[in-house]
Amino acid sequence: MAEKKMLISPSILSADMANLGDAVAQAEAAGADWIHVDVMDGRFVPNITIGIPVVAALKKGTRLPLDVHLMITDPDRYLEQYRDAGADWLTVHYETCPHLHRTVQRIRELGMEPGVSLNPHTDVSLLENILPYLNMVLIMTVNPGFGGQTFIEASWNKIRRMRNMIDQAGSGTLIQVDGGVTEKNVGDLVEAGVDVFVVGNTIFSAEDPLQVIRNLKNPA
Ligand code: DX5
Ligand code: ZN
Repeated sequence: MAEKKMLISPSILSADMANLGDAVAQAEAAGADWIHVDVMDGRFVPNITIGIPVVAALKKGTRLPLDVHLMITDPDRYLEQYRDAGADWLTVHYETCPHLHRTVQRIRELGMEPGVSLNPHTDVSLLENILPYLNMVLIMTVNPGFGGQTFIEASWNKIRRMRNMIDQAGSGTLIQVDGGVTEKNVGDLVEAGVDVFVVGNTIFSAEDPLQVIRNLKNPA
């Protein structure tokens, strides 16, 4: 059983892009723990979203840690710029980093908390050698690129195996899930050992996003 407190990281991908500052302020007021920022380049994933200047602008408007998820090819080119923009957590994809150890070390040297994300088809065992260097593992529970997709059921097994790997290593690496998290599945995800919940559509398409954040933090 996870002893750590569960954290909610609302994904502003599903918020009103013309009023991101309001969305972040609202999430903060509702008790969100982090703010999740989805950076997409139209190459690694089939969508283009936001990048460095938006992260810098968001940083000025919130005290919450910025949890930046880079879905871009060759993320090494931009690590320093995301640090300068105010990223607190920086997550790169396993699939985009041929020199993952070097990338992770560089993120840490720059003063950010390193995370590594796995696409749905990428096996958790591939992180065995890098695990001691990671502050977070992000298990994608949808194919990255878009908000509002359905949770992939095969993720349960990956989450449980990742939980075992981390517990056996005795490390404090957090497990984050991203994609298709709802008020219905959050309780089981806590039971499976997830620490950090990225939630986009469930929060920002709701009539009362504040209440949804509160419900997510108190799963039935
Ligand atoms: C998808 C992004 C997610 C997305 C999750 O590629 O990484 O962060 O916003 O959205 P929901 O919660 O709507 O599935
Ligand atoms: Zn994300």
